[in-house]
Amino acid sequence: MRTTVLFSLIIVLLSFGACQQPQQDIEHSTDTKIDSLISLMTIEEKVGQLTLYTSDMDQTGAYIRKEYENDIKQGKVGAIFNAYGVDYTRRLQEMAVNNTRLRIPLLFGYDVIHGHRTIFPVPLAEAASWNIEAIQHAARIAAIEASAEGLHWTFAPMCDISRDPRWGRVVEGAGEDPFLASLIAEARVKGFQGDDLSDPTTLAACVKHFAAYGAPQAGRDYHAVDMSENMLREVYLPPYKAAVDAGAVTAMTAFNDLNGIPSTSNKFLLTDLLRDEWGFEGFVVTDYTSVMELLYHGVAADTAHAAALALEAGVDMDMQSGFFHQTLPKLVEDKIVDESLIDQAVRRILKVKFQLGLFDDPYKYCSTTREKNEIMQADQLEAARDMGRRSIVLLRNEAQTLPIPQHIKKIAVIGPMGNNKRDMIGSWSAAGDWSKAVDLVEGLKARYPLSEIVFVKGCEIDGEQTEGFNEARRAAADADFVILALGEAYWMSGEAASRSQIDLPGVQQQLAELIIGTGKPVATVIISGRPLTVNWLAQNSPALVQAWFLGTQSGHALADVLSGDYNPSGKLPLTFPRNVGQIPIYYSMKNTGRPFNENSKYTSKYLDVPNTPLFVFGHGLSYTQFEYSHLALEQETYTLDDSIRFEVELANTGSFAGEEIVQVYVHDQLASVTRPVRELKAFKRVWLEAGDSKKVNFSLHPESLGFYKIDGSYGTEPGRFTIFVGGDSNAGLSTEFELR
Ligand code: NOJ
Repeated sequence: MRTTVLFSLIIVLLSFGACQQPQQDIEHSTDTKIDSLISLMTIEEKVGQLTLYTSDMDQTGAYIRKEYENDIKQGKVGAIFNAYGVDYTRRLQEMAVNNTRLRIPLLFGYDVIHGHRTIFPVPLAEAASWNIEAIQHAARIAAIEASAEGLHWTFAPMCDISRDPRWGRVVEGAGEDPFLASLIAEARVKGFQGDDLSDPTTLAACVKHFAAYGAPQAGRDYHAVDMSENMLREVYLPPYKAAVDAGAVTAMTAFNDLNGIPSTSNKFLLTDLLRDEWGFEGFVVTDYTSVMELLYHGVAADTAHAAALALEAGVDMDMQSGFFHQTLPKLVEDKIVDESLIDQAVRRILKVKFQLGLFDDPYKYCSTTREKNEIMQADQLEAARDMGRRSIVLLRNEAQTLPIPQHIKKIAVIGPMGNNKRDMIGSWSAAGDWSKAVDLVEGLKARYPLSEIVFVKGCEIDGEQTEGFNEARRAAADADFVILALGEAYWMSGEAASRSQIDLPGVQQQLAELIIGTGKPVATVIISGRPLTVNWLAQNSPALVQAWFLGTQSGHALADVLSGDYNPSGKLPLTFPRNVGQIPIYYSMKNTGRPFNENSKYTSKYLDVPNTPLFVFGHGLSYTQFEYSHLALEQETYTLDDSIRFEVELANTGSFAGEEIVQVYVHDQLASVTRPVRELKAFKRVWLEAGDSKKVNFSLHPESLGFYKIDGSYGTEPGRFTIFVGGDSNAGLSTEFELR
């Protein structure tokens, strides 16, 4: 018996180094190797592959808990997260490969969300660029850096649509719109994974958090989600689907329950939808301790029950709860869980390890040369700066307050975000070192070497202290131009960072009132991970700039925009409410049976606040002016097989060259199910020199105008449609066509 096992093992191992073969043959031979390997594995070794544990950090650096080390050496762990660095990952890999019977390599995962060492703008900020190529490039750089430090796998992209800025994790997503977020999800997967996962500069991507994690009740993190299947399919699922279609090889469950079933034990989500309907072939990992949390959700009676529920629903890998590890071998022995389910999960996980090339060389991602040469290089920093300036949204600019006038003598930077490095890199900043971030004052000093740049903090981000106000007011009065740098700390958005009020924390608003009251030209820069209810600033700050958290190159990116070296082109990827009472607020609302009418009480509105948001989805100004005209359809009537082609003329009528994001919204006038007042269906980035104009062409396929009907089927209904084209979701220029 023992000889047979050894013999088969030798055959399997010998065949790992595949020679040049066509793709189909490679897949076939990989599957054969995986099956042979599985046939050699004990149940403990199989469950080991389904187990993911964290590495830890203390003052002395990264370390692995003793019990996990023992488990790794016995083949009881398949993957480790939060471990990076070539020496460290090599040491852990050696623990697995040199001590275990089958020498199966470990998989190393990490939250590489918006950069690894070079930190890019937070995902929501990147979404504001509407620049799909730049977003893909940012993910590509993150993959190069992370894989140069021993990593194989990132827990990204987060594809959760959210229409609730109280939820702290809006910062990690791409905003409220399924069309924009789907393009971004696809771009991120392609950026991380490249064309070939076995290329050692790529990372396996992870579609998360499946599903609808972005719609927790009351915006409170981890809270229950309850929504119709139509809403789920039309608004929340498309970005996950786009990431799956782009080839993401892993997916992560969500913490929340959906319509009463926790995502981690949700067979509808993990098997019926993800695998059977969408054809996902990778593996599903839970979110952190989510198998254990099935106890708190109240659907699992004990450890074993929780593990069985998760596995049977379609989970392949247990992140951190250890429940699979503790219970699955016994559940199989007692014939409560079918071993074939475990084999299936092992197969999926081993397949990803094969795709990454770990069986050819478990140390493939452990290159000290790469670690030295491929991190925080000049081109990577430049890409982060470019992404930064593209992510900035100019919300208001009265009397052309910005850009800062040429040859300015004295600029006062006032506010807690002025010389702040710590907060610039935002939440989930991977291995980013905040002390290497360029702050606003540094960015301005580099841009204006001949000017005087004065900085006064004025107050803290939070807290009631106003002692610094007088000095701040004096500095403002004494300057030629003032930049107020305000916002949220990095930890005020992200996981477990929901807020019930989303205004400026502490006394920052009072500081702003004092400084703006001096009558000086003031531009307020808001650093935050979510929309803030900055109503007063929106009316009183001569210029207002939404700068999010822009990452390592924050100060330079901001100086590029404030100085006018880069003409801002960002557009909001989500609606800014006037107050939390308006939430959820999003542009693609329904009309209702009682549409808003100022003169009629019994229409859909509030007594105390207008229906309109503070800033609409898609809003973003430029230093120049763009005018839209001559919207013209090729025809007025189309069939369901035609392409709906139209063009619009865009003119740059101001005095700066710049980029405009031309947005196309469609409204289905009559349908069997109520339809949103408008939905984003296309956009193009168009660069125009001052004084130039250009015809911009679009083509829509009727399929994209479909929706989920009452019987659950998807389709486009003939009828009349309105197209709106413009620079935001309020676009006024419109025309109509008929679909027959
Ligand atoms: C919990 C978060 O919800 C998830 O996004 C992350 O990937 C894991 N922790 C691992 O850090």
